[in-house]
Amino acid sequence: MNVVVLRETQPGETRVALVPESVLKIVALKATVKVESGAGLGAARTDDDYREVGAEVTPDRRSLLGSADLLVVVNRPSEQDIHRLPKGAVVLGFLRPLDEPAALTHAVAQHLTTFAVELIPRITRAQAMDALSSMATVVGYKAVLIGASHIPRMFPLLMTAAGTVPPSRVLVLGAGVAGLQAIATARRLGAVVEAYDVRAAAGEQVRSLGANFLEVDLGGLKTEDAGGYAVELSDEAMERGRALISEHATTADVVITTAQVPGRRAPLLLTEAAVNGMKRGAVVIDLAGSTGGNCAVSKPDQTVERAGVTILAPLNLAATVPVHASQLYSRNVSAFLSLIIKDGELSIDMNDDVVGPSCVTHEGRIVNSRVAAMLDATVGK
Ligand code: NAI
Repeated sequence: MNVVVLRETQPGETRVALVPESVLKIVALKATVKVESGAGLGAARTDDDYREVGAEVTPDRRSLLGSADLLVVVNRPSEQDIHRLPKGAVVLGFLRPLDEPAALTHAVAQHLTTFAVELIPRITRAQAMDALSSMATVVGYKAVLIGASHIPRMFPLLMTAAGTVPPSRVLVLGAGVAGLQAIATARRLGAVVEAYDVRAAAGEQVRSLGANFLEVDLGGLKTEDAGGYAVELSDEAMERGRALISEHATTADVVITTAQVPGRRAPLLLTEAAVNGMKRGAVVIDLAGSTGGNCAVSKPDQTVERAGVTILAPLNLAATVPVHASQLYSRNVSAFLSLIIKDGELSIDMNDDVVGPSCVTHEGRIVNSRVAAMLDATVGK
């Protein structure tokens, strides 16, 4: 069977779905790996690096697609690429099934079996496949560096002959994987860090990283689902959170927002009034830009200036750290492939508790009930 790796075509994308180190693992599963010429260049991997580990490299994207039994991608393939795949081929990648379910109808038409890394359950057995966590780690780290380089101050407390320089203050909203990595990175650079999250469990993790956890009395409200994800909160609960955030934003030099509720618009946490109340020279980095943003004035992929505050909402920070982002993603991908390739052949067990829940389309229909329901709602509008 052929496992195909394409050159990613989304503007600004530099990552690759499989780095040579992981190709070795796929070759060990007795599959043939075919790579589009230049696919790894953004992540500092040459065609020769791929050839050395046994991959076939070719510039002919069309023939590669036509020969694919299994296509591994970072971003969802274009409609044109999907229609160039053989009927019944398998695709694995960030397919955005909950954000853009309608885009998967092309995969249905082509009878593709698609697996979305976003749907891989966060159970212990699937930890090595958790691409969301891998990318969130990279993004949380990089957001802090961007914040640190934008503000007109230094992060650490410094005691010099010319006097003491006070540490910068960082406020992190949403303490999931990206938020926790942002907290850890900001602490390492010497900032004083505060963080807010609706999940009570996040409090302990925040404190263990040496940051102050901002707590809101939500009156015992259920804030997370069985999978550990946050749920959408009532207006009143959201209002209480926003009031506390506004108060603490006034002293922050950098605010990093990471809050998401899967399948919903990102919660609005930093209001326009809160931004107007921030210090001159402060920076907001809104990491939820792709799902509507956590900051009322942020614009996806744009820089906005407001009352002396700079608001950034980068959409693909992981692509600014392509070597490590690709390496981590590639390990996630190869771990998943080892579940569905046996002895050089595709062997898909939909009853497997990782494989089944990750599948979006199969044999000409949407098989994930959540995605199907979202699609019905979209079509019904
Ligand atoms: P995410 O990207 O969906 O959301 C980021 C953060 O935003 C979460 O911590 C969430 O609680 C928070 N949030 C949502 N609405 C909010 C609001 N209104 N105000 C403030 N914060 C809000 O989350 P991520 O990073 O993907 O992690 C989700 C959960 O999954 C966490 O509990 C995490 O610990 C858990 N997890 C479990 C893993 C496992 O293997 N068992 C691996 C990775 C994460």
